[in-house]
This record gives sequence, structure tokens and C-alpha cells, in this order.
Amino acid sequence: MKNFYVTTPIYYVNGDPHIGTLYTALAADIIARYKKLNGKKVFFLTGTDEHAEKVEEAAKKSGVKTEKYVDLMSKRFKEAFKSMNVSYDRFIRTTDNDHVKTVLEFYKKVYNKGDIYKGFYEGWYCVSCETFWTEKELKDCKCPDCGKSVKMLKEETYFFKQSKYQKEIIKHIRDNPDFIKPKARKNEILSFLKQPLRDLSITRTTFKFGIPVPGDEKHVLYVWFDALINYLTAAGYPGKKYTNLWPANFQLMGKEIIRFHCITWPAMLLSAGVELPETIFAHGWWTVEGKKMSKSVGNVVHPAEFCRKHKVPVDTMRYFLFRQMPFGSDGDFSEAQFIERVNNELASELGNLVSRSIVLIDKYSNSEVPAGIADVKLKNKYAQMLKNYHSEMNKLDYYNALNTVFKFVHLVNKYISDKEPWKLSDGGELHNVLFTLAQCINAVSCLIYPFMPETSEEIDTQLGKGKGYNKNFDNIKRNVKIKKGKILFPRISR
Ligand code: MSP
Repeated sequence: MKNFYVTTPIYYVNGDPHIGTLYTALAADIIARYKKLNGKKVFFLTGTDEHAEKVEEAAKKSGVKTEKYVDLMSKRFKEAFKSMNVSYDRFIRTTDNDHVKTVLEFYKKVYNKGDIYKGFYEGWYCVSCETFWTEKELKDCKCPDCGKSVKMLKEETYFFKQSKYQKEIIKHIRDNPDFIKPKARKNEILSFLKQPLRDLSITRTTFKFGIPVPGDEKHVLYVWFDALINYLTAAGYPGKKYTNLWPANFQLMGKEIIRFHCITWPAMLLSAGVELPETIFAHGWWTVEGKKMSKSVGNVVHPAEFCRKHKVPVDTMRYFLFRQMPFGSDGDFSEAQFIERVNNELASELGNLVSRSIVLIDKYSNSEVPAGIADVKLKNKYAQMLKNYHSEMNKLDYYNALNTVFKFVHLVNKYISDKEPWKLSDGGELHNVLFTLAQCINAVSCLIYPFMPETSEEIDTQLGKGKGYNKNFDNIKRNVKIKKGKILFPRISR
């Protein structure tokens, strides 16, 4: 059976990772964990994009050889992912041997198809976005995407005939409603495809750090042509087994790089006779306190460092990034709102529910889940909620999935206040309430696991669940010993 395959863009290594770059990786981590928890075999790919002109420039600036620089920087990405518990299955680097080999084979295939020809490129180039622009596309003589200066390129180049595939791509987008998500991005691409596509320059002669073009080694392959192929390298293309993973189920990325993923990438795949991915999902951009995040403004947020500063677990950041705005929209990162969400939602609602439940079981049932019967109303509510949750998760609607879970958390807190177990005398009803609470916090632990894995594990420990314990409602057995533990979310003082 084909495995579930999710990818992130591979990251340029000319700067340190931050909440923007981590955002795509965390989004992929969430769906990967969710699918694994639900019994799927999953392959989650991420990595670094190293053969770029801007990377070569950054290495020069730092006075280190490019090869050494990319080693150092890609390690920094790995560390940042580890600090945020990003559970990838492979971290690919475009300098990896198997990738270089796959790129060359892919190039050969497209070349033999007659889709690569030699020509001359004259036009503008933005090194920061590694993108070619026409005069008409520039905004006030600057890059229309990042606003930085562009430079004039005049060089011999090889072109990839992406224009040949324009009609087929439009048809594919129209016939496959889930191919580009969200809808606004699909419309953006269809509207762009109303004008004739230009062929893409796919080789460069003015810098060196790249894969040399077979048979014409003064050219190196253009970073995007090289980078996009990483998704196939990791799947094992062109070996027969690549179809165990390919086509990818979800290819995630920020909205600024969808033209490459929704036009160039499909054209490359069509040329090579490879199936197109199922869904390309573009998320929005984070600003910080209302401003574009940038080193020069000094407002770059490094997630693990930020959590350390506030003495809260990294799960708070994982939660915040997906609760603050719908996945797909733009949003603003604000310290005040982060603190508010940690205090009001994580500490007061979720943390409080778990600690109250554990304390109650500890105090009134001798630290053991009593032999009770689960509250029918709450159990039914949970079943309804679960349906919504699964449908939201499968659509990557993380925002509503979290809303759904937190509505349930709120309901269970209300159940405790309504039942007032501390006023119940020993026996039947008290045991039913405590038993219900154990089931509820176990269920919540499963639901939050993709977003907050460490918190989920801590709840499991406090609930006395063993490793590999099946994560389902009604699974906490009677007489299981619970274990009072640490406070899940310390409040942040302002
Ligand atoms: N190397 C290319 C991708 C090649 S994939 C074949 C690239 N790299 S990147 O490092 O510039 O960006 C990687 C991801 O980080 C993108 O999905 C991008 O949208 C995301 N983000 C970087 N800054 C961001 C924000 N401020 N907000 C949200 N995401 C942003 O593009």
C-alpha cells in the first residue's frame, strides 16, 4: 500500500531558521504525527536548499568556504527542528549524493524528451528570491515579491519548455479541485495562467556552486530546477519503488512560492512522465507585531529561544502558531497575544482540566481510576466532536480542529464545576465522574498529540498509561494508577 507522503519546501541556508520557516515544518509535522497516530505509514520530508547564488554570497560574506558554510547552516536547521520536535523521516540536502544523481537523471529524461534547448537570457534577476522577472513585472524597478534590488542578467542559458505544458496544467487544475489549496491560491494560479507562459531559464553561468550541466559544464543548474526534484529523490525516483511514496499527498509551502510549485513543478513532472502530487497547500505569511520579519528591523522570532525566554514548553509555540490564524491565511505574531493564549487557554483551560482531574482522582479514589461508567452525554458529545476533528485534520484545517478540541476541554471543565465531585459522597456517582474525567483527559491527550506531543506524553504519564497504549476514548482501564505530575503550562507574568 502507498504510504502517506508529506513534504515541506527545502530551506535556503543563507540565514537562521525562525517562526516563518519553522511554520511550514511544524504544519507538516502535525499532519505526519496525526496520520501516524491513526495507523498510517508516513514519510515526512524536509531539508535544505543549498545550491543557490544567495547561499554562495552569504558564504563569501562570512569568509567560510561554501561547502563548509552549507554544512554548518544545514546543521542549524536540524537543531532548530529538533528543538521544536519536528519529527521528519528524512532531512534531505541538495548537496546529498543521491540527490545530485537524481537531478542528473531527471535532466537527461527531460532533455531526451526535447524539452530543453539552448538560448540567451536577458532580463532581471532577484537573488533574494532566486527568481527571473521581466521589466513589466518589476515594481518601482524592484523585485515585486520581496522589494529588494534586482540585477540585469545577460547570459547564455538552457531553457526548459514549460510553455508546452500550459494547457495540460490548466486542465489538471480544473479537473482536480484539491490540487491547489486554498481556493484563493488556485484562482491566483489560474489567473496567472491566462497569459502565455514563458519558458524557464534553468542554467546559470555566473556562479559556481551548483550541479554542472552534463556536457556543458560551464553551466550549473538553476536552483529551482535542482531543488524541486528533491521531492522525487527522497521517494527513491527513478527506482521502481518510488511509487510507494509518490505522488505526494501534501506538498506544503508558503504562498510566495506557489508559481514554482503549481506551474514549473507540474510541467517538469509532465515532461518526465511522472504523476502530479495530490495537493499543493499554500499557507500565509507571518508578520511580527505588525511588521515584516527581518534581520534589519531586528524582529526575527526564533521559536525555541522565545519559549525559553518565557519559561514555557515549546508546545505553547506549536499551539499558538496554529491557533492564532487559519492555516492558509496571513497572521501577526504578537507577544501580548502569545501570553494571553498561554495563560487563558493553555494554563486556565487545558492545564487546569488535567490537574483538576488528576488531583480529584488522587484525592477521592486513592490515586486509582475507579470502576465507574462514563457520562453518556459527554461521551456522545465527544463522538460528535471527534467526527469534526478528523474531517478538519484531514483538510489541514488546524485552526478549527483546535477550536473543536478546546470547546470539548471547556465542556469537561464545566462538567467538573456542575458535578462538584468534592461534594459527592463515596461510591457510585463519584466514581462515575472520576472515571469520566480519566477518559476525557485521555481523549484530549490523543487529540492534542499532533500539535503538542510533549504535553500529550506528560498527560499520558500522569494518567499512568504505558508506552504504546492505544490512544482511544474508553481505553483507560479501571484500577490504573495515576501519578500526580508537573504543571503543564506555567502562567507567564506580564
Ligand atoms: N528554497 C526555497 C524552496 C524550495 S522548495 C523546492 C525557499 N526557501 S525559503 O527558506 O525561503 O522558504 C521556506 C519556507 O519558509 C517557505 O514555505 C516560506 O513561505 C516560509 N517562510 C519564510 N518566512 C515566512 C514568514 N514570515 N511567514 C510564513 N512563512 C514564511 O523558498
